[in-house]
Amino acid sequence: MMDVYLFSSIWGFIFLLLPTMVLMWGLAANRIGRLPFRSSREKLKKSARRSLVLLWLALVTSLLFVGLAALVLVRFGWVFVQEWAVFALPALLLTHLAVILFTMPRLRSLTRDRQGTGPVDGEVRGAIAAPRVAVPVQTAFAAAGLSSVQLCFYPVLTLFPIRLTLFWAAFLGLGALLWFRQRRRERMLRREAKSPSAGFRLMRVAATFACIAAVGVILFVLSMQASILPDRMSMMNHSRIDYGGGPAVGHGGDGSHHAHAGHGKKAVNVTELTGPRTGEPDRRYTLVARKETVRMSSGKTVEAWTFNGQVPGPELRARKGELVEVTLINEDIDDGVTIHWHGVDVPNAEDGVAGLTQDAVKPGERHTYRFRVEETGTHWYHSHQTSSIQVKKGLFGPLVLLPEEGEPEKGLDLSLMYHFFGNREVLNDSDTLRHRRVDPGTEVRLRLTNTDSYPRFFTLVGTPFRVTAIDGNEIHRPGELENVLLSVAAGGRYDVIFTMPDRPVRLTAGTGSDDPGILFTPDGKGKVPEVSDHLRLSLFDPADYGEPGEVSLGLSGGFDREFTMVFDFGMGFYNGMFRDLWLINGEKFPHTPTFMVQQGDLVKTTFINRSPMDHPMHLHGHHMLVLSKNGKPVTGSPWWTDTLNVAPGESYEVAFRADNPGIWMDHCHNLDHAAAGMTLHLSYEGVTTPFHVGGAAGNHPE
Ligand code: C2O
Ligand code: CU
Repeated sequence: MMDVYLFSSIWGFIFLLLPTMVLMWGLAANRIGRLPFRSSREKLKKSARRSLVLLWLALVTSLLFVGLAALVLVRFGWVFVQEWAVFALPALLLTHLAVILFTMPRLRSLTRDRQGTGPVDGEVRGAIAAPRVAVPVQTAFAAAGLSSVQLCFYPVLTLFPIRLTLFWAAFLGLGALLWFRQRRRERMLRREAKSPSAGFRLMRVAATFACIAAVGVILFVLSMQASILPDRMSMMNHSRIDYGGGPAVGHGGDGSHHAHAGHGKKAVNVTELTGPRTGEPDRRYTLVARKETVRMSSGKTVEAWTFNGQVPGPELRARKGELVEVTLINEDIDDGVTIHWHGVDVPNAEDGVAGLTQDAVKPGERHTYRFRVEETGTHWYHSHQTSSIQVKKGLFGPLVLLPEEGEPEKGLDLSLMYHFFGNREVLNDSDTLRHRRVDPGTEVRLRLTNTDSYPRFFTLVGTPFRVTAIDGNEIHRPGELENVLLSVAAGGRYDVIFTMPDRPVRLTAGTGSDDPGILFTPDGKGKVPEVSDHLRLSLFDPADYGEPGEVSLGLSGGFDREFTMVFDFGMGFYNGMFRDLWLINGEKFPHTPTFMVQQGDLVKTTFINRSPMDHPMHLHGHHMLVLSKNGKPVTGSPWWTDTLNVAPGESYEVAFRADNPGIWMDHCHNLDHAAAGMTLHLSYEGVTTPFHVGGAAGNHPE
């Protein structure tokens, strides 16, 4: 928790520091560049003194940056600074060393000049203009500027992806140019040649700036255009395939150029990977997507996109072993709709991803999903067509999978979905504190779901409780908790159980007294327990909660494939827009890698978040077992998840068994990040898809 704040604060500081650093070096370079042209020795002396002060200030800003880098290295590790160490840090250190060794002594001797007043002769002017005095400062300015670009705008040029070698090339090229310019100036001054007129110099500066601006504009426009996504593309035609150190296998014989149809095996089309197509379903549901005005508990209304006219959509319940059939009908959602069963390992064709497992269901059309329930727990469903818009608008609902017939449902069992809706925070359809009567002694199960894009705090006060499941996966021997803050990942779920005491209990989606919530009371009255200051609540950590239990993965044999996802921040272009970008391994979809596996593989994935934002990573079709957090092994109950929040500065290792063939999305469930390309695919050998994403195909899964 502390480290998460520390990491984000460091980034906040860096964002302020970088422009300051560039400014200080720019001012210093400018003043030192003008030194040789001072009219008298006195003025020269004064200006040299000021230049020294500026240089010291500039050095301090750089030193702060180096200090922050060192702090990141010590607290978070090498991987968090390794790119800085290849360009930004050495470029700054080299130039700054030159400033200290060559520029500063020269300036100091100028300030000590005792020859009094009078004009400056050409010899002195030339000596001040010497490249080794001015160029160190000018290149320090260039290094500061390029370092800022590296840290904030790394992926800015889509057309000519700037890589670290190019940073060095630009830096050294610039250094050489500056050196030649300064040498010419030195010679000219020594010869006491007449310097060009002020008018001419002004024109020369203007022309230089115009050239730089023109090149900048051309690069900007070309990059913007190059970032526009094709109108139609297959999720299989990725430029990069990552085999995770395992054997290279192909998609299958569909003409995609990576296809070597894996060892003569026949290609499988995702449309064949369905649930049971025949048989009478045990549960039959119909979900109608339509626009509706929805009223919240405060009386406020929201223009929503709904399933069956309500937000959240109707709660779907089924028992393990049952065959579920859901018919989706789209009444009037123009872009089309799908349904994704978030957290349920359904067969690939039932996964509901537009452009990957099906086409979006357009207005007037319908689509039927069928799957056999093979697991239990709290899950949810939502549209996976333009999901960054449709989920926000309300196209989601709870999906509760119960154990086999025989175990009766007992006590009170509530699905509670937190959502940010029409600029208000809601719990289901309630934006206020609701009251609910519960008899003392009743066992209450709260199924907390976070449908938002950011981690959400929940607090439960007035009773001890247990977290019995995370993302629908049971916790082994959960201990009793009190005064803890639960942080549920975007897209994640926590099951919380308590026995109703004879006094009120308050659940809050958040920590403030205005946040929506429920007050459980034995008699409809009683004092509302206050949510205590959340800084004094400790944060619940699944990594050491519960007791170790059995794991069905067979971890002892080693991994068949290992993948790594490093998350970075950058400003740049995506689909023709200049915006914030959240990168996986320096890239955004469709240039992110495809992780290729074979059925049966035991797979390890490492997440490293170097960016200043949370990334709730969601893998479709599989459950991931968390092995370690920030390098420390998980010590509590086996921690299974499908949506793992990777906070700034954190790293996790997870494992899963590749036992559900198909092509699966693996993306950030901050859906705006996903829509900006923070997504990739887990692809099984020999599986192909006939569907396409893009404008022409009408499919936009994000
Ligand atoms: Cu809940 Cu791919 O999403
Ligand atoms: Cu993200």
